[in-house]
Amino acid sequence: MTALRDRARQVMPGGNTRSTLFVSPHPPYAVKGVGCRVVDAQGHEVIDCNNNYTALLHGHAHPELVSVAQAAVAEGSAFGLPTESEVAFAELLRDRTGLPSWRFCNSGTEAVMMAVRGARAYTGRDLIVRFSGSYHGTYDAVVDVSAPGVPGDVKDSVLTLPQGDEPAFREAMRLHGSTVAAVLIDLMPNRAGLRPAAQPFVDLVRAETTKHGALLVIDEVITLRLGLGGLQRQYGVVPDMTTVGKIIGGGFPAGGVGGRREVLDAFSPLGQGTVSWGGTFSANPVTMRTGAAALRMFNQAALDALNARGDGLRTRLQERGVKVSGSGSLVRLLLADAEPAWWRLYERGVLVGTNGLMALSTAMDDADVDAVHDAVLDALEMSA
Ligand SMILES: Cc1ncc(COP(=O)(O)O)c(C=O)c1O
Repeated sequence: MTALRDRARQVMPGGNTRSTLFVSPHPPYAVKGVGCRVVDAQGHEVIDCNNNYTALLHGHAHPELVSVAQAAVAEGSAFGLPTESEVAFAELLRDRTGLPSWRFCNSGTEAVMMAVRGARAYTGRDLIVRFSGSYHGTYDAVVDVSAPGVPGDVKDSVLTLPQGDEPAFREAMRLHGSTVAAVLIDLMPNRAGLRPAAQPFVDLVRAETTKHGALLVIDEVITLRLGLGGLQRQYGVVPDMTTVGKIIGGGFPAGGVGGRREVLDAFSPLGQGTVSWGGTFSANPVTMRTGAAALRMFNQAALDALNARGDGLRTRLQERGVKVSGSGSLVRLLLADAEPAWWRLYERGVLVGTNGLMALSTAMDDADVDAVHDAVLDALEMSA
């Protein structure tokens, strides 16, 4: 591993290309994944509870998805023409979410970027309201406005509020509502602790955005795995736009924006003054076909079973005194000292996110989940 790490450091800053997955001194290199298991370059095998930061619903190399992807590649992996696969994929997402109109890109970051731009174009306003602690990718408008490299004037068009603070939100909308293009919310923000938003707060955000002619954008890049139509359906709230990514690609790069037809028409090439949305690999048939297959396999029965596994694991860990949050298949270990805990878990055969986030997959059985449970207790020094 050190040889590979040293090579990496010669050609990549810090030997790294994804800040999110860095652990010191360097993360192990994955060599192969099958089902819920990953083998690294040392031959060490782990149960994958990371699932590429929640993106993999069915673990690695699921035979059905491999054959769909192979067939798609064999027939041409990308064209300078649209394909039927993107139409079928938009129909599938429409049927699951109830949102009528869709566009595709290659990541959640791009989806959020285009939703923000679309909202600004549609409303003719600039201000974006979002909530502190929530991660929405790396676009300027949704990262810390004081982060290095973010232009100084971004702060003039973004207002960051504490999530769940009704008086602060009401006051902000009273003062600025008429200039707000969109309010961007994640209903269970991972980086803010993976705790579900309070229903009254979500209802308030919907009511206030409607009242002030601002759009509501719900970021379901992670939470789409919790319900067939995402968390928004469980809350009974209909956004003007929603952003998705991760699971929709079936293991390939993907992102999408769905929403009200008249709002998404901001991107229509048939209209006047439309927002340009390019993307050389957007809606490529490998992603569209494999993603659709992965989502179809994730039917109501599969979803319920996976969420029940996650709920069971969370409850058992809580009963043993482990601090955990989340819902359904998303379980976050609330670690005081995340990096050492990450390594202890890895050594005990469990791969989690560097902030303690776990996302279960349909490739796991009860014995796998039991092994994860025992490893967590052991790694956190509570006997199983
Ligand atoms: C809620 C949310 N939105 C957006 C993104 C950005 O997605 P991507 O990493 O595909 O760019 C993420 C990534 O973790 C996310 O969790």
